[in-house]
Amino acid sequence: MRIVEGKKQREMASEALAALAEGYAQVTLDLGTGDGGFVLRRARAEPRTLCIGLDAVAEAMAESARRARAKPAKGGAANALFVVARAEALPPELLGRCDEITVNYPWGSLLKAVSAPIPAVLSGIAACAKPGARVALLINLAPFEDHEQRERLELAPLDADLAETRLRPAYRAAGLEIGEIRTVLGALPERTTWGGKLVKGSGRSTLSIEAIKS
Ligand SMILES: C[S@@+](CC[C@H](N)C(=O)[O-])C[C@H]1O[C@@H](n2cnc3c(N)ncnc32)[C@H](O)[C@@H]1O
Repeated sequence: MRIVEGKKQREMASEALAALAEGYAQVTLDLGTGDGGFVLRRARAEPRTLCIGLDAVAEAMAESARRARAKPAKGGAANALFVVARAEALPPELLGRCDEITVNYPWGSLLKAVSAPIPAVLSGIAACAKPGARVALLINLAPFEDHEQRERLELAPLDADLAETRLRPAYRAAGLEIGEIRTVLGALPERTTWGGKLVKGSGRSTLSIEAIKS
């Protein structure tokens, strides 16, 4: 898989990732990580966790990837890894490797995939999780509440009730057993760059979905 290291990229083979992961208590994957700030903060706070951020856009992660390579005293975190890939074609190196997967404020094709949902993408995400792994999604409901924007983004309607009736069975079929579905108004459980931007001074609501890989 393609690893982002500042402006440079390199290949990491499955064996190299397996050897790296062995040195850690758990592996987490943040899909659609954006600027990678969430992953870098988590890696600094949890030195025993290998924190992987993945996004389709390498440039967005470049600065966090560069910072991660600094000495720990200067904010570096050798346990932060940034991967450039699309959720529709997740690297086989990640198969069965993750103890936790987060998807925070997805947009574009990732938002469509988790909310429609698109079974092949869900199965790909589930395939990266170990049995019993936690899969947590935070979905900004604003585009679903604005009819015009929803149509433009080609999204199916979504709220907590529709998540119950439409997403629960589809996620189950992909091997993800949804537990809690809740709508959070304002204050958000996970602080990411987009989470901060979206909630600041707004009454926006977020759909929080917690699932377990069966
Ligand atoms: C609104 S940003 C959220 C970034 C970050 N999770 C946060 O909360 O700050 C959505 C991210 O999803 C990424 N994305 C959209 N579609 C994707 C796909 N199919 N595969 C991987 N990443 C995708 C975008 O490149 C973007 O960085």
